[in-house]
Formats: sequence, structure tokens, C-alpha cells
Amino acid sequence: MANIVYGFGASHGPLLSTPADKWDLRADADHENPELAFRDGTYTYDQLYELRKSNYLEGQNMMEVRQERYDRNQKQLDALADKLEEVKPDIIVLIGDDQHEWFDDSVQPAFTVFCGPKVVNKAVMPERLKDMQAGIRYTVTANKPPENQDYPVADGLAEAIIAQAMEDEIDVTASMEAPSGPKGSGIGHAVGFIYRRILRDKPIPLVPVLLNTFYPPNQAKPGRCYDFGRTIGRAIRAWDGGKRVAICASGGLSHFVVDEEWDQKMIDAMLKQDAETIAAEPNIMFRSGTSETKNWIAASGAVAETGLEMKMLDYVPCYRTPAGTGSGMGFATWT
Ligand SMILES: [Fe+2]
Repeated sequence: MANIVYGFGASHGPLLSTPADKWDLRADADHENPELAFRDGTYTYDQLYELRKSNYLEGQNMMEVRQERYDRNQKQLDALADKLEEVKPDIIVLIGDDQHEWFDDSVQPAFTVFCGPKVVNKAVMPERLKDMQAGIRYTVTANKPPENQDYPVADGLAEAIIAQAMEDEIDVTASMEAPSGPKGSGIGHAVGFIYRRILRDKPIPLVPVLLNTFYPPNQAKPGRCYDFGRTIGRAIRAWDGGKRVAICASGGLSHFVVDEEWDQKMIDAMLKQDAETIAAEPNIMFRSGTSETKNWIAASGAVAETGLEMKMLDYVPCYRTPAGTGSGMGFATWT
């Protein structure tokens, strides 16, 4: 029997690795984005500003505020890294999303469990880095190692999760071989960021679980993500590996439009393991980067029957424009 001994959740967005005085490099894209998703609406930048101007978000976007938020993010990322070193799990089941890094329009599974021997985080060649826009370069460097790095996949656990999913009538996709992917860049940012920043490039065997949170038309509903998480938890506990397993939620919370109120609602539901509130949340609320909150919901489901308790270490709203674009950063443990 394996034991789920620990869980952690961490955002992985660009502002975590972009110095506070460079956040405007990411804001430029917000101004040009005609489809900024906020709650159940879709807005241009100007429309979004109009909608939210009574919230006086200019104050949230001042340099000293940005810097304070950036520092808080680093503090929590360091704390999660230290804690993981202390816990030393044998395996990490990492729940993230694929953003057309492995999959593309040819096939886009709702839930994927990877059960090959390893994944590769491919380096980005220095000449390619040189040509990148500076704002993108910070992010790529945070997610991608200086040289190709192999992350071993835990032997047998992925297969056990797939078997349990089929038993529970959740028709999960099994991936035995890493797809070459449209960008050929290896495992995506949801794994790359965590393995670089929180594992400090010292890989622990993992099971990559990839949800399609981003792309229509087949995003699973939040209740289904929670149930899939419960299946993952059940599979781990029944697995005859004798290992100490950690669950990781990678990504979220609201972005690229920050919605503190909604983030708090989802955090509260997860703190209370309130499956009903989670399942009642309409799918339309989970769009764009905000959809990655489903990775957290699945992780909550995975620890639901373990007795581990969620603790929110910090929630850090990071605004990069007065219209409220940016990221709601979340950092949590289940102990
Ligand atoms: Fe992401």
C-alpha cells in the first residue's frame, strides 16, 4: 500500500519569474488581447477597464505594491521548495494542464495519464532565447533547463491510476510515449516550472496527469475534475508500491484577469472539501489561465480521503494593469 503523505499547490505564471519592474512587458499583450475572459464575459482591454474602474486597481499596480507581491511569491516558492526537501516523497503525482505543448488540434484529451518511462524537459537553445521578446524570455528560462533534463516516471503507479479510472468509469487517456508536440519542446510548463523552481532541478519520479483545462470544446467540468482526483487518491492508496507519494497542483488561480473574490470562493471550497460548491461552479468561470484552478480541484479530490488538511500559505493578487489583468497567485500545502 502506498501513502499520500503530502500535497502542495503552486501557481506557475509568468509574473513569478518576471521582476516587478518588468511586468509591463506582459501587460502589452493584455492591451492587444480582444478576448480577456472575466467571469462569464469576454472583453477587450478598454471594455475591461471600463467594467472594473470603480475598483481603483491603479493602486494595486504601483511599483512598490508589485514589488511587495513579487517578494511574497518568492518567499512562498522557497518555502514550498524547503518543505518538499524535508518531506522527501518517493513520488510526485503532478496535476497540471497541457497548453498545446504535447497535444495540439490533432488530438486533445480531456484527462491524460502518462505512463512511459520518463519525460524530457527540453532546453531552449541560447540562440532562440536571444531572439525572444524579453517578457517571454523570463518565463521560458523559468520553465526550461539550460540543458535537456530527464524526469523519471514512477514505475507502475501511472498504470494503477489508469486502471482505477477505468474501474470508476472515468475514461482517461493513456499516453505511453511522449507526443512530439507542435513545439517539440518536451514536457510542458506545468511540470517544468515546478521541477525547476520547487524541486530545484533535483527530479523526484513523477506521474504526470494532464487535464485539458484551456481549450474548447472538451474541458471537463469542475465536479468531474474533483471526482477524477478522488480516483487518483484511491488508486495511490490501493497501489502496492509501498511508497510515500505527494500530490502537486500546478498553475492557477485566476489569470490573465485577476478575480480575487472568485479565487477566494474556490479556495474556501477546497479548504472545506466542499465538493458541492465546486461541482456547482459553471464551466464558463474556468476560462483562459483561470481554468488551471481545475488542477487544484483535482488535487483537492486526490487528498480528500487522506485526512491531510489544506493550509493556504498565501494568496497574492498580482496586478499588472489598471484593468485588473495579472495573476492571482496561490500557494498551499496539504499536511
Ligand atoms: Fe499555466
